[in-house]
Amino acid sequence: MTINDYKFAGKKAIVRVDFNVPLDENGKITDDTRIRGAVPTLKHILNEGGALIIMSHMGKPKGKVNAKYSLAQIKDAVAAALGVKEVKFAPDCAKAKEMADALQMGEVLMLENLRFYAEEEGKPVGIDKEDPAYDEAKKAMKASQKEFAKTLASYADCYVMDAFGTAHRKHASTAVIADYFDADNKMLGFLMEKEVAAVDAVLSNIKRPFVAIMGGSKVSSKIGIIENLLGKVDKLILCGGMTYTFAKAHNGEIGDSIVELDKLDVALGVEELAKKNGVELVLADDAVITNGLDFATMTVKPGSEISVAPSNAIPAGFEGVDAGPVAQKAFAEAIKGAKTILWNGPAGVFECDDFTAGSKAIGLAIAEATAEGAFSLIGGGDSVACVNKFGLADKVSYISTGGGALLEAIEGKVLPGVAAIKG
Ligand code: 3PG
Repeated sequence: MTINDYKFAGKKAIVRVDFNVPLDENGKITDDTRIRGAVPTLKHILNEGGALIIMSHMGKPKGKVNAKYSLAQIKDAVAAALGVKEVKFAPDCAKAKEMADALQMGEVLMLENLRFYAEEEGKPVGIDKEDPAYDEAKKAMKASQKEFAKTLASYADCYVMDAFGTAHRKHASTAVIADYFDADNKMLGFLMEKEVAAVDAVLSNIKRPFVAIMGGSKVSSKIGIIENLLGKVDKLILCGGMTYTFAKAHNGEIGDSIVELDKLDVALGVEELAKKNGVELVLADDAVITNGLDFATMTVKPGSEISVAPSNAIPAGFEGVDAGPVAQKAFAEAIKGAKTILWNGPAGVFECDDFTAGSKAIGLAIAEATAEGAFSLIGGGDSVACVNKFGLADKVSYISTGGGALLEAIEGKVLPGVAAIKG
């Protein structure tokens, strides 16, 4: 079934969206890309005469109720995005049957954070994998995950999966629930269709040169995609906190910079593989450094220093927080002339206004290459926030709502959220 063919009139649709949006300390949404991304599907269902039950997770509350991650905080923003007077709210997602039954066509009900129940993720909590009782606990959890999914399914006549950002998770609401609807009553939403098509556009028709930019703090969390990309791209820019693990692997002095000491061999392996595959690997040769970044407030403490140093000669007491001017130029140079571009992960602590230059240099170079005809795909909350912060959102080809999901799709993996619908 496709969302365009389905007759929503008189039907209740339960829609899995990814409203895992960043909030500031007052609970205000700082980037609403994911909400805007789901609006076409949600409005379509209402316009066609259906009723909407919206479900999502937020953060990682690990099976416990936690007000910090309550979706009640974003209820009014969702109402505004949909242009409806009210979004009703079910404070317990597993006990919403009465509210769902009472829902009238044209009305919207949002369920509380699915991850307040461990059944959503389906992993046993409070028991170690090494524990002899773990396998039994896992079996029991899988059974209650099915019950949980069945409960969610009981609220509606049809199921729409539109949470691309979470489509790489095989959770109750992203995959298991689909078992409780027949093929005519489950479908992907517009956002899912669009995201999958964007990935296909990159993978099936790579125009060269293909340049990927991977940032972020850890090599370990990106190693799968980095190795995969080294088989596809012409140039790979590695930036952000990863820089210092590479510098350390060559015995550089990195001061107090973030580093994964147990991944030095992984970094050297990446360099080897790049060489073997003829991929130009671009690392940041210099860094903006400081001895006073306060991560809690994302400001530099008064009286502390900001300067520039080679990435492998950072004095003790200082840490690298952004790509330096030499690196910024090298990144821009590497992106120039690209015909396919993938960007995931910032070049520095862009949340602090003093350390945006590296990420901005990348964003601007991507915008320029896009104007020259490149297809540019930006994914991952932080890179998307960068593009928005620098006012470049309409100067890139495609902004994905996925982080991990996008990378897994680019790796060529079948996403469980897609498989659940398409088989
Ligand atoms: C994301 O932010 O990448 C998605 O919402 C998935 O969240 P998760 O990594 O906690 O599953």
